[in-house]
Amino acid sequence: MPILLGYLLGSISFSYLAGKLLKGIDIRDHGSGNAGATNTLRVLGVGPAITVLVLDAVKGLAAVKIGQWLGDGSALLLVLCGIAAIIGHNWPIYFGFRGGKGIATTIGVMVTLALVPALCAGVFAILAIAVTRYVSLGSLLFTALIPVFIWFMDLPIETFVLSVLVFAFALFKHRTNIAKLIKGQENKIGVKK
Ligand code: G3P
Repeated sequence: MPILLGYLLGSISFSYLAGKLLKGIDIRDHGSGNAGATNTLRVLGVGPAITVLVLDAVKGLAAVKIGQWLGDGSALLLVLCGIAAIIGHNWPIYFGFRGGKGIATTIGVMVTLALVPALCAGVFAILAIAVTRYVSLGSLLFTALIPVFIWFMDLPIETFVLSVLVFAFALFKHRTNIAKLIKGQENKIGVKK
C-alpha cells in the first residue's frame, strides 16, 4: 500500500500542472519537452521553476515518510517507496506515462534516506551547473556521485542499491541530453538561443 501511494504521489506532475494553470499549455510540447523544473524555468520562468523544483522534491520526501508512517519501518520498504515516487514522476499514471527525468524527486528521496551523501553530491552538482550552465550535466553528476558517497558511509545496502538504480534511471532519461552534451549542442540555462 505505501509503495502504491508513493507511485501515485510521484505521478503528480507539478510542471505539467504549472504549464496548464499559468499558460494553458502542455509543458511537454515546449522547450526540451521535459516535464520538469529545468524546462519550467525555460518555458515559465524562475518563480514557477523554483516552485516545481520544491514540490517535485517534496513528493519524493513525502513518499518515503509515508513508508515510515504506514509501513514496518524496514529499509527495503522505504527504498521501494522512494523508487516508486521516482518512477511515478518519470512515468506518471495521470499524464499518459510521459513525465520528467526524476532529478527533483530523487533529491527529495535521497535527502530523506541519505542526507550527507545527497548534500555532498549536491555541492558538486551545483558547482558543475554554475561553471558549465548545463543542468543535465549537474543532474547526472548528482546521481552518479550519490552511490559513491553512500559506499563510504554506514547506510543500509538497500539505500546503496536504490542510488545505483536511480543513476541508471537518470542515464536512461538523459540519453538525449547526453548525446547533445557530446555534440556540444546541449541547452545552457540563462543563455537565450
Ligand atoms: O532534471 C532535468 C535536467 O537534468 C534536464 O532537463 O529540460 O534540460 O532536458 P532538460
